[in-house]
Amino acid sequence: MDQNRKPIYEALIEHQEKDPISFHVPGHKSGRVFPETDVFKGILKIDATEIAGLDDLHAPEGIIKEAEQLTSDYFGSNESFFLINGSTVGNLAMVLSTCERGDRLIVQRNCHKSVLNGLELAGAEPVFIAPEWEEETGRYSSITREVIEEALQLYPSAKGVLLTYPDYFGRAYRLDEIADVVHRYGLPLLIDEAHGVHFQLGAPFPKPALESGADVVVQSAHKMAPAMTMASFLHRGTERVDLRKLKHYLQMLQSSSPSYPLMASLDLARYFLATMTVKEKEDALHFIQDIRTVLETYDHWRLLPVTDKDDPLKATLEVEGNGFEIAEVLEEVHLYPELATSSQVLLTFGLGTAFDLNELKQRLELLDWRLKNKSKHATIKVDQPRLPVVQSLEMSFSSMQETPVEWVHWSEAAGRIAAEAILPYPPGIAVVLKGERMTESQICYIEALIGQGARFQNEAIETGIRVFKGE
Ligand SMILES: Cc1ncc(COP(=O)(O)O)c(C=O)c1O
Repeated sequence: MDQNRKPIYEALIEHQEKDPISFHVPGHKSGRVFPETDVFKGILKIDATEIAGLDDLHAPEGIIKEAEQLTSDYFGSNESFFLINGSTVGNLAMVLSTCERGDRLIVQRNCHKSVLNGLELAGAEPVFIAPEWEEETGRYSSITREVIEEALQLYPSAKGVLLTYPDYFGRAYRLDEIADVVHRYGLPLLIDEAHGVHFQLGAPFPKPALESGADVVVQSAHKMAPAMTMASFLHRGTERVDLRKLKHYLQMLQSSSPSYPLMASLDLARYFLATMTVKEKEDALHFIQDIRTVLETYDHWRLLPVTDKDDPLKATLEVEGNGFEIAEVLEEVHLYPELATSSQVLLTFGLGTAFDLNELKQRLELLDWRLKNKSKHATIKVDQPRLPVVQSLEMSFSSMQETPVEWVHWSEAAGRIAAEAILPYPPGIAVVLKGERMTESQICYIEALIGQGARFQNEAIETGIRVFKGE
């Protein structure tokens, strides 16, 4: 197919050039009835709806169908779908299409919260598997073939395996070996590749999940490719997951008024990736290398090396003290990192030159001065709790629904079953799972994170947690 085509984007531009008089929603009428602001002007002209010629995301026959086919052609899928509610909706649809109430699904323990929500909506019985602890990165990252084998032997009736690849920090692992094992059991391998849409560009990026044999893959095009926030893809690589079910859940969970600017941005992101030349890729990578060289001149952190398992568009700063504090000072000099943990700060780069290197150097000089003159707070390092290799929840989601909940202070929480997941955000990965019996070391870790300034989406997290009564 001609990857230079941009059917949605082109149709929207053509439509706005007609100077259309709108007798349809949205109420801003191509931006003419919108509070005075220059910021939205351009985008509102293409913020259309399902009128003649502009197709329908939920029953595509025209420009959206062509744009999805171009996407499928580029990524090598059987079918590709545009998502206007992030990888979040892709993960929900992927889980719901695979599991019914009471079904087991083998899931990576440190998955995104959308996967946990999908499991709860499905009423599935998750079997959590832990990635290996990696000394070199100081994180739980890689899933091994052995742990998948172990879980499948323990739970042969499972309906599938759902993994995150790569992790938030861009760390990849041998997914092809895992796909072989999962397929030997006749099961689908579902991959949350939210952070890996650009792996399709080939080396030096890690191998894409579809190419490694995954059956369904979800990608946030907005995270690492130039698409607008929320714009994402879902690809079906094989026949192992029912197409009808996937379509059913996508239309059920997504808006009936999908955003045309978001869909056009997916069209453009696919076009951008598919037509990127070797020279453009090399230039982008050179710019990143220049940024890394600048970052390496400071001793406030150690820049973790990029190996062949790592996404070069990510840089991890490992800090002696507190990652949250370093992130705060970066923000003070208007350098905004992706996320911080107690010991690391994650920076993500784009696929092009997005700023002036001299500007970066000046801001880092200011940061250097501020950090050298900042009084140092002693940071109590608390190790991440060791995760069980294979684990199921203490209660099923249906009994959780029927059991009353009470609030307890952290000092009384050890040994109780959590009625809410505890999620530092970002990255939105649970330290405590809903339905899990909590240990002392998990609670110490949460208290340390709170003390260090981690952000959570839980109410009253400073003092305690909701637990199931009598459990
Ligand atoms: C691993 C992972 N999966 C899924 C998501 C959800 O993606 P989205 O923001 O596109 O809904 C995120 C978001 O940070 C994520 O990190």
